[in-house]
Amino acid sequence: MRIDKSPAIIGSMFDRIAPTYDLLNAALSFSMDSRWRKTVISSLNIKDGDKVLDIATGTGDMAFRACRTAGCTVTSMDISRRMLDIAARKNKSSRGSFLITAGDAIAMPFSDETFDHAMTAFGIRNMPDLSAFLDEAFRILKDGGKMAVLELSVPSRFPWRWIYLTYFKTILPIIGGLVSGDFKAYRYLRDSVMGFPPPGELERLMEERGFEITQSSPLFFEIAHIYLLKKVAAEV
Ligand SMILES: C[S@@+](CC[C@H](N)C(=O)[O-])C[C@H]1O[C@@H](n2cnc3c(N)ncnc32)[C@H](O)[C@@H]1O
Repeated sequence: MRIDKSPAIIGSMFDRIAPTYDLLNAALSFSMDSRWRKTVISSLNIKDGDKVLDIATGTGDMAFRACRTAGCTVTSMDISRRMLDIAARKNKSSRGSFLITAGDAIAMPFSDETFDHAMTAFGIRNMPDLSAFLDEAFRILKDGGKMAVLELSVPSRFPWRWIYLTYFKTILPIIGGLVSGDFKAYRYLRDSVMGFPPPGELERLMEERGFEITQSSPLFFEIAHIYLLKKVAAEV
């Protein structure tokens, strides 16, 4: 089944579920999302003075964590205004500075080679064109810049696959729908994860678009995956 991921449709869907997003994220992942974000930020090794872009930032949890880690400047970008409004309200950045920009990850409003690091948590799955997204991420990173991608995935082995699919296909869309009042959005979550390329396929695409993969690790019985990428400039 082909899912329409045009930014207007996805943006308005996230606008609708923004008020209950944080609550459901924590509940449906049994709070594992917070631990995974911490792992992503520490793997980037962000230093004072670095410029960091959080792509598809949502309500900003990755960005805030980065701000607590170092005296860096973190730009939070998202297509959903309501998600960004919540991020702005939650902002209590301590060491680093926090900036907010509305924008589409397929056509980012930044010059070439602006950022030392980019990251996206549960964002890449929503992109209508993965190659175009990776090309944009490559463009805005400085040479040698790093990008971390955290995304949900489907376990490949029995019995975890069976347990996960039972939860993901039946229980999760019902709880998500009841709490958010938007059953369609949580069916989208299920369908977008099920239809997303598995790690091997995604890695091939990342390499094709010019990234070097420095780490690719499954998390908690493969229900999520972290990819660490490096922009290696082409030799002239
Ligand atoms: C599942 S949420 C993840 C939010 C956040 N990164 C987190 O860790 O909770 C996905 C986010 O991607 C954003 N998004 C989807 N398509 C986008 C696009 N084309 N450009 C920018 N943001 C997009 C949505 O608005 C939403 O906030």
